Amino acid sequence: MIRKFRLGHPYDTNAVILPLEAESVEDFPFKSGINDGCFEFSFFMQKDDIVYGLGEAVRGINKRGWIYESYCSDDPFHTESKRSLYAAHNFIMLDGSGCFGIFVDCPARVRWDVGYTQTAETKITVFAQAFDIYLITADSPREVVREFRSAIGKSYVPPFWAFGYQQSRWSYHNAEAVDRVVRGYDEAKIPLDCVYLDIDYMQSFKDFTVSENAFPGFKEYVSAKKEQGIHLIPIIDAGIKKEEGYEIYDEGIKNGYFCKNAEGSVFEAGVWPGVCAFPDFLNPEARRWFGSKYRYLIDMGIDGFWNDMNEPALFYSVKGLNAAIDEAVNAKGKNLDLGGFFHIKDVFAGLSNRREDYSSIWHSIDGKMVNHQEVHNLYGACMTRAAGEYFAENYGGKILMFSRASYIGAHRTAGIWFGDNHSWWSHILLNLKMLPSANMCGFLYCGADLGGFNDNATRDLVLRFLALGVFTPLMRNHSALGTRDQECYSFGGADDFRDIIEVRYRLIPYLYKIFCGASENNDLIFRPLSFDYPGDKIARECETQLMLGDDCMIAPVYEQNVSGRTVYLPEDMRLLKLSGTRVESAELKKGIHYIDVALNEVPLFVKKGKKIPLCQPALRTRDLKTDELEFV
Ligand code: GLC
Repeated sequence: MIRKFRLGHPYDTNAVILPLEAESVEDFPFKSGINDGCFEFSFFMQKDDIVYGLGEAVRGINKRGWIYESYCSDDPFHTESKRSLYAAHNFIMLDGSGCFGIFVDCPARVRWDVGYTQTAETKITVFAQAFDIYLITADSPREVVREFRSAIGKSYVPPFWAFGYQQSRWSYHNAEAVDRVVRGYDEAKIPLDCVYLDIDYMQSFKDFTVSENAFPGFKEYVSAKKEQGIHLIPIIDAGIKKEEGYEIYDEGIKNGYFCKNAEGSVFEAGVWPGVCAFPDFLNPEARRWFGSKYRYLIDMGIDGFWNDMNEPALFYSVKGLNAAIDEAVNAKGKNLDLGGFFHIKDVFAGLSNRREDYSSIWHSIDGKMVNHQEVHNLYGACMTRAAGEYFAENYGGKILMFSRASYIGAHRTAGIWFGDNHSWWSHILLNLKMLPSANMCGFLYCGADLGGFNDNATRDLVLRFLALGVFTPLMRNHSALGTRDQECYSFGGADDFRDIIEVRYRLIPYLYKIFCGASENNDLIFRPLSFDYPGDKIARECETQLMLGDDCMIAPVYEQNVSGRTVYLPEDMRLLKLSGTRVESAELKKGIHYIDVALNEVPLFVKKGKKIPLCQPALRTRDLKTDELEFV
């Protein structure tokens, strides 16, 4: 059952598509009240209760014991101490002494104190005067998710080729660099379907332009790659370079499509291209305009995009930067002590993504000026909606689209990636833990930067990361400028990488079927073990393994210098060790086992009476013979 409670006249976030009568928030059956102008409500947790949800967030599958904040943030340090990442996924669920889910449909900041201040209490604070809250009750957590997901609508299904392996790096600067990547993979006979174009494909980081120097004859180039079976996927950023004569900027200015300052001038802040204006994606007309701009690249043969920097990321506001420079100039020649030096350092370090800069942004919604803080968490989602609606109208389901920032509702038109993680072993597990949580919120096409984005990766880390990535719908290796190369052919011993990625291609028909089924039935691809084995204490507490579809369990290796890992089997299962076209198989009894997993192996646990279809690998998804399947 699902009930909706309303306070005031909330902004229509487009998250819920099921029409429901709203009850007054006064009838909301939880302890609640107004504190400091904010609506607060809470529920109690028994000792063994689990709290799931919050989608893309730090820490565990069980969210107990921390404060999280829905406030889309460009933060490349995904450590336990953080409260916010790029997304605002306002769905939380209790399982144990009760079974219910809560969706706070509010694009302003929301704080989730899940037993941090009071161990046995979850307190939720909504920093807004108008919102909807949905209460979903059912017999099991999986049913709660299904009920919630049926209210928010079916999840985005990308084109089939988007299940192939994808290689990215900031940045393949020109056509020769892209060619080197394709050649590297082809020579090593490692499957590959996509190569990404990061910001350097543009002229001076301007959206919807292509650098003639870097990619001469871009259209012909895209089509030549397509013939080789390679899709090029360009990035699109939220900020539009301030430059007279640049068509997008000029049109935005002429039509009033950019976000404003309080007094009506255009809000400006620095991002990659320098000073930028920011399209007012909250304004439907501006959204239609921006969406139609993707056509420039689609007409050149492009059929996939990633939307970035759309929290929106602000490196600095002109006002903030000038004030910081003034302070530094003032300090010149002075003997700076502890306080003096660190103050200057903090002033510069604090220039990016300042809340006070966000507060100075204004949107035009239905003819009314709305402050950005009221809708902050929708900005990136509306950028993606701009593109998604344009694609849906004009290109059916043929375009791949995923975004960094997101809000529930965007799951209908796009996927997400989990942003700038690190080449850290702990991030393999973080990646794993986000998967079921993201699925609960409707985001099925998702994945992390495999191998890690920031920092230098090692060969064993990339292999182990990829062995988890074999199962994630988005399987993309991406890394930052200046880090060690982490393409599969970069480390020597490419055979091991081929063995892992071939397993992905062998599984694609099966994974695609699970994916489409999950979208169609509002179900999860990845579930915590506790969903399936609610009475089993070890399963309930397991945070390093996941159920995949209805037949399997996955348990990737996530530590360095180990030859395998301990796995808990909540029932008898068959262990498949998949490597290239080889399949080793062993029957294991319910209980705890140590399993050896070589660097070129992918372990998969299959439940009794289930069979897994495998096809022969191919270098491209288009060459997969998806109707010639063998069953294990
Ligand atoms: C952001 C993105 C990252 C990208 C970089 C340069 O940090 O999250 O994926 O490579 O910008 O565009």
